[in-house]
Amino acid sequence: MPSNFVAKSADGYEAIMGRWSRRLAIPFLKFSDVPAKGCVLDAGCGTGSLTQALAAHRGLTAIEALDFDENFVAALRARTSDPRITAQRGDVCALPYANETFDCVYSLLVLHFVSDAHRAIREMRRVLRPGATAAATVWDTYGGMPSWRLFWDTVRALEPEATDAIPRKRPMTSEGELRSAFESAGFKEVVDTMLAIRMDYINFDDFWHPMVYGQGSFGTLFDGLPEARRDRIRSGVRAAYLAGDNDGPRGFASIAWAVKGTA
Ligand SMILES: C[S@@+](CC[C@H](N)C(=O)[O-])C[C@H]1O[C@@H](n2cnc3c(N)ncnc32)[C@H](O)[C@@H]1O
Repeated sequence: MPSNFVAKSADGYEAIMGRWSRRLAIPFLKFSDVPAKGCVLDAGCGTGSLTQALAAHRGLTAIEALDFDENFVAALRARTSDPRITAQRGDVCALPYANETFDCVYSLLVLHFVSDAHRAIREMRRVLRPGATAAATVWDTYGGMPSWRLFWDTVRALEPEATDAIPRKRPMTSEGELRSAFESAGFKEVVDTMLAIRMDYINFDDFWHPMVYGQGSFGTLFDGLPEARRDRIRSGVRAAYLAGDNDGPRGFASIAWAVKGTA
């Protein structure tokens, strides 16, 4: 299986991550740069947060978008009528494009879910024109996502037996890992950095519902628990979210590692 991503639905994805990946796409493209013209690839496009940010660059003549999840590809197709965008299902470890096709290849929040990220990075390089850039970013999931730590640390403390449903540390999410993978794949002029966005929630429900039901396997486990345990988890996470104050908006600065290199 080339993907370790558990996809439930495009709407659930939007609530839990799409709204933040749309935000992250802005500093990511600023770091990566967008060619003034030509053809680019969004490798692992999901529901299209980055694809649509790329479409704002009117000089691009073609924007290819590829994802392993058919529902996400369908959601992106439904969401755009831009004739420059072509969305298709595919595997970033075996890209269905000829060598030296693209003027830039991007990967937003994908490489930590790919079963063989090194192979995917080699593929990104293969389909780039000589001298063109590939760029990738992944969350710093251990220390850089306080809102997710708040959630999962509380669940882990209250339900140690839920460990299988709790996301583990993923490859490529440590400092320097992306950079070293790009260098190993033969990229030149490799540069890495940290990108920051805020995840702003309206109130506790806005935080809780996508985390429990939006994506992944936790919602199924949660639904199967007796009511008293479900209440205990919800109360614990709520107390951590509120941090002793009234319910309302909370914003969490969140960090992603980013890398770019030249083919
Ligand atoms: C966290 S989502 C990011 C999606 C999108 N780039 C965004 O930022 O909203 C991770 C995506 O990687 C895709 N993915 C994981 N492994 C893949 C593979 N081998 N080939 C193509 N897509 C893959 C998943 O289907 C999922 O859409």
